[in-house]
Parts: sequence; C-alpha cells; structure tokens
Amino acid sequence: ARSSLKVLVTGAAGQIGYAIVPMIARGVMLGPDQPVILHLLDIEPAAEALNGVKMELIDAAFPLLKGVIATTDPIEACMGVNIAVMVGGFPRKEGMERKDVMSKNVSIYKAQASALEKHAAEDCKVGKPLNSPVLVIANPANTNALILKEFAPSIPGKNITCLTRLDHNRALGQISESLDVQVCDVKNVIIWGNHSSTQYPDVNHATVQTSSGEKPVRELVSDDKWLNAEFITTVQQRGAAIIKARKLSSALSAASAACDHIRDWVLGTPEGTWVSMGVYSDGSYGIQPGLVYSFPVTCKKGKWSIVQGLKIDEFSRAKMDATAKELVEEKSLAYSCLN
Ligand code: NAI
Repeated sequence: ARSSLKVLVTGAAGQIGYAIVPMIARGVMLGPDQPVILHLLDIEPAAEALNGVKMELIDAAFPLLKGVIATTDPIEACMGVNIAVMVGGFPRKEGMERKDVMSKNVSIYKAQASALEKHAAEDCKVGKPLNSPVLVIANPANTNALILKEFAPSIPGKNITCLTRLDHNRALGQISESLDVQVCDVKNVIIWGNHSSTQYPDVNHATVQTSSGEKPVRELVSDDKWLNAEFITTVQQRGAAIIKARKLSSALSAASAACDHIRDWVLGTPEGTWVSMGVYSDGSYGIQPGLVYSFPVTCKKGKWSIVQGLKIDEFSRAKMDATAKELVEEKSLAYSCLN
C-alpha cells in the first residue's frame, strides 16, 4: 500500500477549511489511491470549532483518511508535512485600512514561514518526491506567498505558489455560459498578475472544442466588446458578487480550485492544456523578477513551467503591467509593515 501524505491546512476551522478538508479526504486533491493524514491548524479562539471539524472528519469515516491532527501550535501542525495549503488569515473588517489587513497577514506568513521551514518534511525542502507543494490562499495571496518565500529561504522558491486557479475557473465558467458550451470543452484562458481586481483575465489564446474541431474563443464570441470589457470585469469582480449574494465569501469554489491547483501540479496538466498559478517570476513576459505573479503554466512530474512565447498585444500588455505595478506596491507595503 502507498504511504500516506501529510497535508497541512491552516485556517482549517474557517469557511474554506470546512469545504476543503472533505475534498482532500475523498481524494479530490491527490487522487483516489493516495491515503492522507490531515494536519489542521487554527488559532486559539477557533480551537473548539477546529475540534468539531476533526470530530466530523472521524464521523465521515473516509477510507483514505489515515489520521487527523487538530492543533493551535504551528510547529506541531507543520511537523513532517508533505503538502501545505495555507488558508489561515486575518479577514478585512469594517473600518480597517488596507495597510492594517496587510500588516496582520504578512506577520502571520512571516511567522509561519519559519515553522514550515524548520519542521516540514525533508522532501518539502529538497523538492522530493512531489516537489512538496505549498499553496497560499489567504489574501493578499500573492504577497503572502512572497513573504512566505522570502522568510523560508531553505524552501525552494519553485515550491511556493498562490491560488489564482479560482479566477481561471471563473473565466472558463463565463465563456462556457456565454457560448452555451460545456465548461470541460473550454481551455487555455489565462489569469495574469494579482489575485485582486487588477488581475487580467485573457482569452486571446483560449479555445473551445466543437463538433468541427478546436476553435479560438475570439472566433466564436463575435462580440469583442463583451470580451474586452464585461467579461473581464465580471471575472475581476466575481468574488465581490458572491459576497453580495451569499453574505459570505466564495468557499466551495475556492476549495475546489485549490484541489485543482495541487492535483495538476503534482499529477501534471493534460497535454495541450495550461492552467494559471501565482508563481515567483523569473522575468518571463517582462514581469519583474521577485514578484509572485499569476502566469499560464504547464506541470509535469511535480514541476511547473511558465508557458513561453505567447503573443501579447498592446491591450494585454497594458493590463499585465498595471497588475504588476500593484504587486510592486503591495510588496513595498508588506515590507514597510514588517519593519
Ligand atoms: P475564514 O475567516 O472563514 O477562515 C479563516 C480562518 O483562519 C479562521 O478560522 C481563522 O481563525 C484562521 N486564522 C487566522 N489567523 C490564523 C493563523 N495565524 N494561523 C492559522 N489560522 C488562522 O475565511 P475563509 O472564507 O475561509 O477565507 C480564508 C482566506 O482565503 C481569506 O484570506 C480570503 O480572503 C482568502 N480567499 C482567497 C481566495 C483566492 O482565490 N486566493 C478565494 C477565497 C478566499
């Protein structure tokens, strides 16, 4: 039998935590043959609720679930983990300045960087056997991931990513709804940049599988105005629209996207398909190195690589640069909060 992988979920007593732990325990993240042990971390005020989640996981009797640790101690939570899903964070409350939220969150990520670096499984540090993924979901996701990377220097930068797959999936969903085609037939949209309202959802390379072969989205959607305006803002503002409707932020779609992100990273993307991931920029597409920026990537054997050589028009260039500029500002704000 395969040995179990230890999966850390921080903020596990929260909304996304509640949605994602059963998905992981059912094999949605790592496949139906991979046993898992869940390491659940939250903070003291949520300790009782966290224990309730553990009780429900026991009650669900998941065959793949080989153990649950529920703790408020970051060291115990990080001990020996192979995969880390960082959902825990401080929410923006009424009346809080952007800087206050940033300050709370980057401090959390700085502290957890050391716990992870010191106590995660050896393979988390040397990139074996699964390249030991670390996925940051908590907002500001790109900048939290950057702080985690910079304060955990012995974890390879390639192992630390942030979630923009939800935005990617939202873009697929909008195209599928608008063309009345199955979402599984739409592929290769791109989310560039920050997981914020400056992100750029790009359909210039996206295609749809039709009965007469693969067709570019640009050819099928005759309404350029929709693609260049409403489509983009709908994807950018979708998080806010969900909050308005549910009075709570996206949780099931975020949890599902997180499983997609890790699964494709570990098990590989299908031939001819790319996905969007927030990764440490190597300067591709003129995006300054040293930012965690969402790019189109393909994955193979636990390693992601940025898709190269896509043609970028002027419209896209301006939007890609605007979201990069916001990330530069966030980075300097984050460092000013830490100093
Ligand atoms: P939530 O508020 O329901 O849960 C967050 C949990 O984190 C709480 O249980 C809280 O006690 C815990 N927490 C706070 N500080 C912690 C610490 N230092 N260590 C461990 N746990 C800690 O929030 P929800 O809805 O689950 O969202 C979580 C985060 O994900 C938020 O920052 C949200 O903005 C972000 N998000 C990101 C998305 C993305 O696509 N990247 C999509 C949706 C949400």
